[in-house]
Parts: sequence; structure tokens; C-alpha cells
Amino acid sequence: MYIGFQHLHSFMTYLVLAGIIISISWALKGYLTKQPFTDKDRKIALLGLIPTHLQWVIGLVLYFLSPLGLTSLSGEAMQNSMLRLYTIEHPIMMILGVVLITAGFSKAKRASDPKKQFMFIWAFYLVGLILILSRIPWVVWP
Ligand code: HEM
Ligand code: HEM
Repeated sequence: MYIGFQHLHSFMTYLVLAGIIISISWALKGYLTKQPFTDKDRKIALLGLIPTHLQWVIGLVLYFLSPLGLTSLSGEAMQNSMLRLYTIEHPIMMILGVVLITAGFSKAKRASDPKKQFMFIWAFYLVGLILILSRIPWVVWP
């Protein structure tokens, strides 16, 4: 169960990063070339949103299964940079990134000006991506 979720979480990271990067590039192109915002544009923004949502739910399950998750959370863990990354920094920063990406999608859906719709997607997804990249455990991944 643990190993299965660990592999799934590790593999999903490729889809998350690829999806977010495709969504940002597409929205930036629409923004710069002043296109109308169509249903196709919304679907391409979903390419970034859906894997990211799936991933955070998988991460949450993993937090309860992994020896590097909740079981490691302690005062001593805070003095160990690797344990602090897994038990606190990674989960909090990833959830913040996901919230930003969701807010960008949601705001784009509600806005009426196409330029703003594209801007909400590329800008919010970009900040979300930076937060996500900042707390991937690069020593073990890919
Ligand atoms: C967009 C969101 C996320 C991304 C891109 C992401 C990415 C990653 C990556 C690349 C690893 C290393 C995998 C490996 O060892 O090959 C990892 C490990 C881990 N992640 Fe996430 N993560 C995300 C969200 C979360 C969340 C929200 C939680 C917890 C609430 C979480 C909990 C964990 C745990 C506990 C591990 C360590 C697993 C182990 O090796 O035992 N992740 N994550
Ligand atoms: C397996 C996990 C999940 C998948 C596949 C998923 C998928 C999606 C999809 C497709 C949308 C876009 C809906 C639309 O077109 O408007 C969405 C939006 C959203 N999801 Fe998730 N989701 C998952 C888990 C979650 C969880 C656990 C939460 C919260 C606790 C959540 C919160 C939201 C929110 C707040 C929105 C934004 C709604 C809006 O304002 O447009 N999702 N999700």
C-alpha cells in the first residue's frame, strides 16, 4: 500500500509539472496575442488543474502511510532539514501551490475580460509552480 502510493506520487509529479507548464505557456500565448477565451482554453487550463488536484489528495494519503510523514513529525525532526522538509515544508508549500492554481482557474472562469482570464491562469499557475518547485525533494526525485 505504502510503496504503491509512493510510486504513484512520484510518477504523478511528471504529469503535474508537464500539465502546469503546458497551461502556463498556452495562457501566456493567448494573453500576448489577445485571443478570445474559448472552451478549448478552459480545457487546457484543466490539464494543469486536474493532475495537481489528484496529486495533493495522493500526497495527503501518503502522509499517513509514509515513515517520512506524520510518524516522523516531532520536535527533533525540526532540527533535521530532511525530516523538516518531508513533515512540514513539503506538505504546506504544496498545498499553498495547489490553492493558488485553483484560485487562478476559478478566477479565470468567473472573469469576463479574455485578457484577464488568460492572465489569471498564467500568473497564478506560475507562482504556484514556483512554490511547488521550491519544495520538491530534489535529492531523491526524479
Ligand atoms: C502538487 C503537489 C505535490 C507534488 C508535485 C509532490 C511531489 C513529491 C515528490 C517528487 C516526492 C518524492 C518522491 C520520490 O521519492 O520519488 C514527494 C514525496 C512525498 N510527498 Fe509530495 N508532492 C505534492 C504534494 C504533497 C502533499 C500535499 C503531501 C502531504 C500532505 C505530500 C506528502 C509527501 C510525502 C509524505 C512524501 C514522502 C514519501 C516517501 O518517500 O515516503 N506531498 N512528493
Ligand atoms: C481526486 C481528486 C480530485 C480531482 C480529480 C479534482 C478535479 C477537479 C476538477 C476537474 C475541477 C474543475 C471543475 C470545473 O471545471 O469547474 C476542480 C475544481 C476544484 N476542486 Fe478539485 N479535484 C480533486 C480533489 C479536490 C479536493 C479534495 C478538493 C478540496 C478539498 C478540491 C477542491 C476544488 C476546488 C475548490 C475547485 C475549484 C472550483 C471552481 O471554483 O472552479 N478538489 N477539481
